[in-house]
Amino acid sequence: MADAPKKLHIKTYGCQMNVYDSERMAEAMGGEGYVLTDDVAEADMVLLNTCHIREKAAEKVYSDLGRLRPFKEAKPDLKIGVAGCVAQAEGEEIQRRMPLVDLVVGSQNYHRLPAMVKAVDAGEKPVDTEFPAEDKFDHLPQRPVSARPTAFLTVQEGCDKFCAFCVVPYTRGSEISRPVSKVLSEAQKLVDKGVREITLLGQNVNGYHGEGPDGDWGLGRLVRELARIEGLERIRYTTSHPNDMDDDLIAAHGEEPKLMPYLHLPVQSGSDRILKAMNRKHSAEAYIRLIEKIRAARPDMMLSGDFIVGFPGETDQDFEDTLALIREVRYGAAFSFKYSARPGTPAADRPPVEAAIADQRLQALQALVTEQQRAAQLAMVGREVSVLFEKPGRLPGQWVGKSDYLQAVHVAGEGIGPGSLRRVRITASAPNSLAGELTAG
Ligand code: SAH
Ligand code: SF4
Ligand code: F3S
Repeated sequence: MADAPKKLHIKTYGCQMNVYDSERMAEAMGGEGYVLTDDVAEADMVLLNTCHIREKAAEKVYSDLGRLRPFKEAKPDLKIGVAGCVAQAEGEEIQRRMPLVDLVVGSQNYHRLPAMVKAVDAGEKPVDTEFPAEDKFDHLPQRPVSARPTAFLTVQEGCDKFCAFCVVPYTRGSEISRPVSKVLSEAQKLVDKGVREITLLGQNVNGYHGEGPDGDWGLGRLVRELARIEGLERIRYTTSHPNDMDDDLIAAHGEEPKLMPYLHLPVQSGSDRILKAMNRKHSAEAYIRLIEKIRAARPDMMLSGDFIVGFPGETDQDFEDTLALIREVRYGAAFSFKYSARPGTPAADRPPVEAAIADQRLQALQALVTEQQRAAQLAMVGREVSVLFEKPGRLPGQWVGKSDYLQAVHVAGEGIGPGSLRRVRITASAPNSLAGELTAG
């Protein structure tokens, strides 16, 4: 009799790249006879794919590990693994703090996971956080876990920018771009499985410079080539750095209809003094000029950004400069964070801004951004957009999809299913979603 499949529960923290990596780890473990489960109680293995970006995110991992203790006591051969950026940053320290952890696998070593699980079976407690010479993607199986209309595809990983607050250059290593041929073949396989929208991922995705058939290709050229894949209807990419936004990529936004008019372009602060202290290597003015150039190529571009408040040394005036920049840019969405000192980063030793002041600034910034987001949503009413439907909504006959501008849209109508791409007239707006109806066309 064949063994019943073993069950793997994965919890993913942090950014989209971790979401992509979790899928790849599920595929790798699928080759070892594991199937996914949402239920920790029935799992034979639990994998936490972690994020180290802010202290809260990293500490959450330890409280979640504590919560696994009763499951391990009930089932002593339950395997517990820690992957991702906390694994990369803290390595064996994790097992010292939490002895119930069986294995620690760094972000570049996922292809070694099956071998590590065998080592656990042999009574070892493996830790692998080396940056290996080989490419993990070459050693991971290519079998998408489930067919969905949208997918992530990592094209670039790592970061050489060393912003003074950020752990990513240490947890993901230096910038590496995957070769053009590998990206194209992975994209083709996804499309063959029914994927219609691909979001290209990288910590500095617009800094992509992959090996092509005739030398290095930038992201603009890669996007244009991907757009030739029949059946692939939409292309997005994230996250970008302002200094890597080159003319070819900007031009592609004006020329390539499959490239969606939504761009996440973090600036972090609107104060030149703080930008310099953050080592961002551009001014607020340069960022605003860049946005103008992008909007000249694609006037309906929806922008989103990331902001940090309370960076060491930030004065009231610096913060006012950030609000002024937000007013000038007019974002469709923005993500804002209170500065969190991260061990090993250059800013960690600098005297912090008082917590109460940082809290106040965060609230003020979020109020402004919420106002802008509402205005952007409201401005959609009466407009016609395309919507790629993903899943049924809560009401009978209703479906939920994403507009070109990445807004959630609820529609009830005939003949909609997962992967339908339809024209929709927006009829109503709520803070976080839109409602619409199918148009005749
Ligand atoms: N590679 C991306 C973002 C990485 S982290 C980029 O360059 O934009 C996502 C966001 O987390 C950052 O844009 C920043 O706003 C925030 N962040 C990073 N480190 C942080 C820290 N130490 N404290 C608070 N927020 C931080
Ligand atoms: Fe971190 Fe800066 Fe690199 Fe983004 S560009 S990952 S914020 S160091
Ligand atoms: Fe977090 Fe690592 Fe992503 S630190 S934001 S999971 S790159």
